Amino acid sequence: MANSELLSLSNVSKCYGQDRVLKQIDLTVQAGECVVLAGHNGAGKTTLLKLILGLIKPTTGKVSVRGQNPTNKNSIKAKRSLGYLPERVSFYESMTGLETLQFYSKLKSEPIDRCIDLLETVGLESSAAKRTVSTYSKGMKQRLGLAQALLGDPDLLLLDEPTSGLDPTLRRQFYDIIEQKCRMGKAVIVCSHSLVEIEAQADRVIILNSGSTVASGSVQELYQQSNLPLSVQISVQPSCTQRVEQTLSDLIIPIQKSAVTENSIIEFSCNPEQKMELIRQVASLGDAIEDIQIKPPRLDDVYLHYTVSETPSRPVETTPGIPL
Ligand SMILES: Nc1ncnc2c1ncn2[C@@H]1O[C@H](COP(=O)(O)OP(=O)(O)OP(=O)(O)O)[C@@H](O)[C@H]1O
Ligand SMILES: [Mg+2]
Repeated sequence: MANSELLSLSNVSKCYGQDRVLKQIDLTVQAGECVVLAGHNGAGKTTLLKLILGLIKPTTGKVSVRGQNPTNKNSIKAKRSLGYLPERVSFYESMTGLETLQFYSKLKSEPIDRCIDLLETVGLESSAAKRTVSTYSKGMKQRLGLAQALLGDPDLLLLDEPTSGLDPTLRRQFYDIIEQKCRMGKAVIVCSHSLVEIEAQADRVIILNSGSTVASGSVQELYQQSNLPLSVQISVQPSCTQRVEQTLSDLIIPIQKSAVTENSIIEFSCNPEQKMELIRQVASLGDAIEDIQIKPPRLDDVYLHYTVSETPSRPVETTPGIPL
């Protein structure tokens, strides 16, 4: 086990009856890494987190947290390394936020005098902390959930869709906390459907499809592996649209809507390996071109590429898991 390795899953599968909901998953996570788990509803993301937490046992394969099996009752080191924000937080409505956090502190044998500071870290001011949870908005409950997950400053944070239903400001604050934790050497695994929002934070993205890993790598690596086209938008002098289209015709991959808009903007796709040729051709057109924008695919596009194109023909029972 490498020194900074916090987590390893080796050839892990999970079955419920006849249903194999996770298939041959291999994964290692090092200190300081932010790993994003993406996948459709029912892809197996929460199941994977439950295996890491030791709440369920793998049907085959091995899960190891800090070198310990998390389902083992004596795996104290493993359990203390983990913080978990479940996808649906639920607290006793009649307790205040502060009492709730103090309750979880005692369960985790952590000092309760840090609870106020922790609530402030997640943006719950002391006046709110003293109110009962029954008066909390969804976002406030989510903040309390995050504070509970951060108790004891765990080495590996497991966050299951932490930003679902939150407003953009609160989402930003959650991502900032994730980034800060990773900078401090903590590892974070986030399940998320908000891929475009989280792509800046992700050191690695793992895409699950029907329980199998269909892609894994940094955002940049996934862009390259997917070889998806770039979107291009060119503003053209109105009298030059035809000449521009003719010059670029070999490089243009038409998109569904009409390529030339009323404002003489030509929109099309282009193969990534032809990008430099496109730029050269555009430069050769001189004043005919007023502006150009070339946009790489977003993580959402990459996700769709792997999930939609992989679904129909994939021989799931025989495909080995991709080593992560
Ligand atoms: N206790 C259980 N018994 C039977 N099937 C289960 C159980 N728990 C989960 N499953 C099944 O395992 C599959 C994966 O579920 P999981 O909750 O891991 O998906 P998910 O990727 O987290 O989805 P979502 O994005 O909707 O949260 C689903 O088909 C689900 O019905
Ligand atoms: Mg889930």
